[in-house]
Amino acid sequence: MKFERRPWAEPYKIKVVEPLKMTSQSDRERFIKEAGYNTFLLHSEDVYIDLLTDSGTNAMSDYQWAGMMMGDEAYAGSKNYYNLENNVRKYYGYKHLVPTHQGRGAENMLSQCLIKKGQYVPGNMYFTTTRAHQELAGGTFVDVIIDEAHDSQFNHPFKGNVSLEKFSNLINKVGAENIAYITIGATVNMAGGQPVSMENIKAVHKLAHQHGIKVVLDATRAMENAYFIQQREPGYQNKSVAEILKEFASYSDAATMSGKKDLLVNIGGFVAVNDDDLFEELRNMVVLYEGLHTYGGLAGRDMEAMARGMEEAVHDDHMKARVEQVGYLGELLDRYDIPTVKPFGGHAIFLDAKRFYPQIPQSQYPAQTLAADIYVNSGVRAMERGIVSAGRNKETGEEYFPALELVRLTIPRRVYTQAHLDITAYSIAEVYDKRDKATGLKMIYEPKYLRFFQARFERL
Ligand code: F0G
Repeated sequence: MKFERRPWAEPYKIKVVEPLKMTSQSDRERFIKEAGYNTFLLHSEDVYIDLLTDSGTNAMSDYQWAGMMMGDEAYAGSKNYYNLENNVRKYYGYKHLVPTHQGRGAENMLSQCLIKKGQYVPGNMYFTTTRAHQELAGGTFVDVIIDEAHDSQFNHPFKGNVSLEKFSNLINKVGAENIAYITIGATVNMAGGQPVSMENIKAVHKLAHQHGIKVVLDATRAMENAYFIQQREPGYQNKSVAEILKEFASYSDAATMSGKKDLLVNIGGFVAVNDDDLFEELRNMVVLYEGLHTYGGLAGRDMEAMARGMEEAVHDDHMKARVEQVGYLGELLDRYDIPTVKPFGGHAIFLDAKRFYPQIPQSQYPAQTLAADIYVNSGVRAMERGIVSAGRNKETGEEYFPALELVRLTIPRRVYTQAHLDITAYSIAEVYDKRDKATGLKMIYEPKYLRFFQARFERL
């Protein structure tokens, strides 16, 4: 008997299950219409396989649930805060920790502390909430990711890398004093979950520090990034994910974190910094927005679950199963010749809606349409990551037309089996077979902020 390659398996077994509800196609047609063709507005009860996001959708382990019972719900000085602080120091290496209810709480505070009105904030492609908080704080985001990241077919092992040329051109053009800091997202969500190499962050850190510019890591999926470095970057094959993560974070001055991804919890985040004065400022600010500096909007039990999740997530066997499961779905879609972003990312497979539905112009929201059509076909819920997510230019009010018009199939951690992914691929193949008949959407309601969450559409 011959195997193409050595199979991998989940490094856990299942102890508790949550039944799934099946619905009929005619029910789903009604549900998506009622939801304004926006998968964010569906009731999750009406979803069969939920690939909307990997955020807060993780399955916790028995060790984490046991930790929940160890919650110290004191208003101040909870022991779970100190456990979390210890683990942040141990695994990421930052000196100070301020917990927040989730990632955007951290982004809000850090943006307010570090951005002066009129300053620029370069980053390796935007993330929706990150850019929104930078803009609310008076900053202007500048994309400095390598060009290849905007091409869904370009095969680059570290497609999330910062272009040093773009970054240094910006410094020369506006002056270092007008740059608040540079954000490095790793992996880069909007580019398809693409990693940043160690070599690149090292070089960015060097260039930034030569000009007195701080480096802020969006550490949301940095453990997945560390796994890609182990697999792809020369010199790292024999290092553990934990060692790589710590080295990677050492090339940054601060981090914002959504614990709802890498850290295997359902809620939580933090901002972590090395600078004592910045810590002082954040500690003052957190009481206004999140809660006291030793809980930041979280229950003690949530902080304990996050501290324990960090210990589990950084294991090589966990990270291998996590990232390889995502790749498994990608390979199935390849077999049906379905257009996806290459290489496959760490948390999701992204369908290339421009190539899936070439007849639908971007102004008629092809990715939004495709996400709705997949839901109607099988009850699988995905998310638009294209023109709707990109929003509008804050000065001109014009819609951005991003090069990438994608549908994200995001895999929650430790939640679905390979069989669920088989069904998902099968359903997408069915939609692909009928692709010639698809027509686009018209937006009939547009919210002011982060419009993709609540916008409503009608079929054209
Ligand atoms: N940074 C990145 C790279 C993210 O992907 C997210 C959230 C955040 C920051 C904000 O964190 O949600 O805890 O406030 N991404 C989710 C997603 C929403 O579905 O990709 P948050």
